Parts: sequence; C-alpha cells; structure tokens
Amino acid sequence: MAELLITGIRRLWQADPEGRMGWQAGAEMRELPVLHNAWLLCREGRIAGFGPMATCPEGDFHRLDAGGGDVLPSWVDSHTHIVYARSREEEFCHRIEGLTYAEIAAKGGGILNSATRLREMPEDELFEQALERLLEVVRMGTGAIEIKSGYGLTPESEWKMLKVIRRLRDQAPIPVRATLLAAHALPPEYREDRKGYVDLIVNEILPRAAGEGLADYVDVFCEKAFFQPDEMERILEAGWRHGLRGKVHTNQFYSLGGIQAAIRQRALSVDHLEVVTEEDIRDLLEAGTLPVLLPSAPFFLKDTYPPARRMIDAGLGVALASDFNPGTSPSGRMSFVLSLACTQMRMRPEEAVHAATINGACALELDRELGTIAPGKRANLQITRPIPSIAYLPYAFGSDLVETIVLDGNIYT
Ligand code: NIG
Ligand code: FE
Repeated sequence: MAELLITGIRRLWQADPEGRMGWQAGAEMRELPVLHNAWLLCREGRIAGFGPMATCPEGDFHRLDAGGGDVLPSWVDSHTHIVYARSREEEFCHRIEGLTYAEIAAKGGGILNSATRLREMPEDELFEQALERLLEVVRMGTGAIEIKSGYGLTPESEWKMLKVIRRLRDQAPIPVRATLLAAHALPPEYREDRKGYVDLIVNEILPRAAGEGLADYVDVFCEKAFFQPDEMERILEAGWRHGLRGKVHTNQFYSLGGIQAAIRQRALSVDHLEVVTEEDIRDLLEAGTLPVLLPSAPFFLKDTYPPARRMIDAGLGVALASDFNPGTSPSGRMSFVLSLACTQMRMRPEEAVHAATINGACALELDRELGTIAPGKRANLQITRPIPSIAYLPYAFGSDLVETIVLDGNIYT
C-alpha cells in the first residue's frame, strides 16, 4: 500500500494548497506559509493532501507520528561539484599559511589539481565516491541536487564525468540534474590557445553531451583568470543551439560584465555573486534572472559574502546552494548554508528557507515538482525533532535537527 499518513506535525512549513510555482522575491521571501498542528498524506510518491489535525483522515494507512516535530520540503541544492577524485586539504593548509585561492590556482593547484587526478581515475571509482557524497547529503535533508562536470577538461574526461552523473541520476533516491562545465579552467594543453579550447567545447564537447542527453545545462566559470564574458557568451549561445540553457559561475572575485553577458544569453541562474555593483543588481532585477548564492565558499576562503540583504531589499529573489566541491566548499550541509546566510548575509530565517526550497527548485526548473508542500508535488520531506521556532534551525548550526527523511512518500532509512 503506497500511502503514508504523517500526523502530529507541530508546524508544516511551505504549506501550499495552490501549488505555487516561480520563485519568491523581495518582501515575499519574509512570509513563510505555515500550518499548525497538521497531518500530511502521501500517495504514490506524491503529496495527496494536508490539513489541521481536527480534519485528519481515517483509514488503513502506513502511519508516521512526527512527534511534535516540524515538517519542511527537502532542500534543493542547485549547485554542486560532487564528482571529484580526491579531497584537497593540502590547499586548505596552504591558505592557512597565507596563500590565496588565486595563487594556489596559478601554481597548478585548484581546479587543475583536481583535473589531473580525475583524468586518471576509472569511472567506477569516481561513481562510488560521488554516490557516497550524494547519500551523505540526502541524510542531511537534500531532496534534489544539481551536479556539474568540470574536472575533466578533455572531451573524454568531461564525458566520463557526465556519465558518472547519469549513473548517479539512475541510482540516487532523489532527482539529479547534470550540468556541463567544461569551461571551468583552461587545461594546460591549451595554455597558449584559449580560442582552441573554447572551439573544442563549442564544436565537440557540448554537442555530444547534449546529443547523448548527458547534460541538462551548460555552465562557464566567468572570472579574471578563467573565462571572459565574450567566451562565456559563445559557449552559452552554443548551449542554446543544442538545447542546453546556461547556469553560470560569475562575479566570485571580480565584476567583469559576466552578469550582463549571462542576461543577454537568457541564463537560468547566475551563481556566486560575491562581488556585485548596484548596476549588476538593477540589471538582474530588470532581466528577472535568478541569483544563486553559495556562502560556504566565502566562508571557507575567508572571502567577501554576496550582498544578499541588498539584493532582497532591492526586490530580487535569491536561491541558496552548497557549491559542494573539493576546493572551496568541501561540504554539502545545506543547514549550515542557511546558518551562514543568516549570520553572514543577514538573511532572515524565513528568507533562507525559501531560498533553499522553492527558489532552489526554480534554479533547476523543478518548481512544478518540489520546493513547497503542495498536492501533486513529489513527497520529499524532512521532519525535525521538536524545535521551538523556525529560526532555531539556522540558529542551532551545529545540531542535527532533522530526524526523519521522507523521499517519494517513503521513510528513507
Ligand atoms: O564554485 N568557482 C569555481 N568553481 C568552484 C571551485 C572549484 C575548485 O576549486 O575545485 C566553485 O567555487
Ligand atoms: Fe561552483
């Protein structure tokens, strides 16, 4: 019997009888819909209904007593790099000694370090490691995830990464979206031939990735020492020709016009945005492009945080994601991302929850399926132990507050 009735819910967050789509922006992000003392019914993997305990349905259901805990939709982590060959804690130690991320990258560390290792590692081993990371974040409340390539930087190795992501998609208990990030760094073989590498992406890597259904999106790391706005535009244009929309890394260290280039190419999201001008914010607002903020990267690099407060006060919607990767954010713990959003970017707890649920779902075009508790949406949920308020979630940043995970209407063990 594929029905699960959850009772004894102290607060059901993102309760959404109408099935909201689209992201929350500006002042809307402050209001988090909630139903007190509630039940929730899941049927065949979907949310079938919910209401106050006084209206709780009778019947022969599987039952789960939430024990006075709160229920939220699962986190949607819309930006990760969890397929990688090896951790990079030696770079972490170099930064402690005083080197910057850019200095380490210039010495062949950083992304190129990961690329050397990944090229040597067989697909099966990469898959096993990435699956372990994926299952780790599922236990921490992530109920949908995006994963990028970008540590291969040759046609064969980029496709190998995308094949690993496809296997993850086929075996993971949660939805997985794949993004081609061949333009993550200039590979050493092309050090003197930037155009040659962009040509290779546009003419070979991207068409095959799209043609074989290995990618849903295309990404470019637009940054001073990486790819320039015009190179990004060429790649995003090629993406459109092959049915892949852009989701880009931009304005992590410098504002070079990457946001405007992404807007011109109708990118779905612009991610990072640690360094933005007032003009950048105005342009994003006018274009209706979604910023995805990744505060664990500036936390780990001891860098500047994106001005989330200014963005939301200006009327923008923002999403939050983990950027789980071996160099700048070796963690996929979304609850910590919410804590950083509140403490370091002055986001309100309610805004952070919107940013990590419905807005994250929008950053992956999964808002029809996930992000709120709505009839017909996928029943991917997290149930907390009893907590005093929603603010307690980002406040108690070191505690594991999620007690039960429900995926597709089943208790995940
Ligand atoms: O999102 N900024 C570019 N890419 C990753 C870092 C990748 C790495 O250092 O391995 C990021 O922070
Ligand atoms: Fe990233």
